[in-house]
Amino acid sequence: MGDDPRYPRELERDLTLRDGTRLRLRPIRPDDAPRLQELYGRLSRHTAYQRFFSIMKRLPPDWARMLADVDFRRRLALVAEHDVDGVAELVGVGRYEPTDAPDTAEVAFVVQDGWQDRGLGTVLFQEILAAAAARGVRRFRAWVLADNRRMLDLIARYGAIEQRRTEQGVTELVFTAKP
Ligand SMILES: CC(C)(COP(=O)(O)OP(=O)(O)OC[C@H]1O[C@@H](n2cnc3c(N)ncnc32)[C@H](O)[C@@H]1OP(=O)(O)O)[C@@H](O)C(=O)NCCC(=O)NCCS
Repeated sequence: MGDDPRYPRELERDLTLRDGTRLRLRPIRPDDAPRLQELYGRLSRHTAYQRFFSIMKRLPPDWARMLADVDFRRRLALVAEHDVDGVAELVGVGRYEPTDAPDTAEVAFVVQDGWQDRGLGTVLFQEILAAAAARGVRRFRAWVLADNRRMLDLIARYGAIEQRRTEQGVTELVFTAKP
């Protein structure tokens, strides 16, 4: 990806989780599409459902390609990469996408089951909000299953919630980053 002048290298960084595990955080690249499919294949049904609100046998290749192909400005995703015997495996993704409101981006997060509750989701959340703010996006929307306490608590902890509405088991939140 060294040849794409838009690739925001300033968002690459090494990360050490609370338990000492090391990960690499970096913006997504088009060649991550197969790695996104592999990550999806490792998710439990519960986690996959919390992220995509549907159960698919696998992440369709065209969807994976779309998710991996961002412009780093209006659409951006950060991946957390773990080295398994020299092979990079994705274990978490945070992203924002444009909405019909020009100042508002939709955010979504997923952390592979065995990697949850180790602080990675919090890092992805804060990094995505900061990367968005650096690109002029300061208001966010998230769709979260109404019983997804962990994600709702995460948003409440680091976000200043402006709107919250639950319909048919899905909570829509609009928020800015807490100062
Ligand atoms: C939601 C998600 C991204 C959070 O990532 P994570 O790596 O598990 O998050 P963290 O480890 O940073 O935990 C966040 C906080 O939630 C708390 N938490 C853990 N389990 C919880 C639960 N069942 N209910 C409420 N809070 C919980 C943790 O204690 C942590 O707080 P701490 O930092 O004080 O310990 C991840 O769990 C996930 O991928 N879930 C499935 C997909 C999903 O729900 N996506 C959201 C749709 S936008």
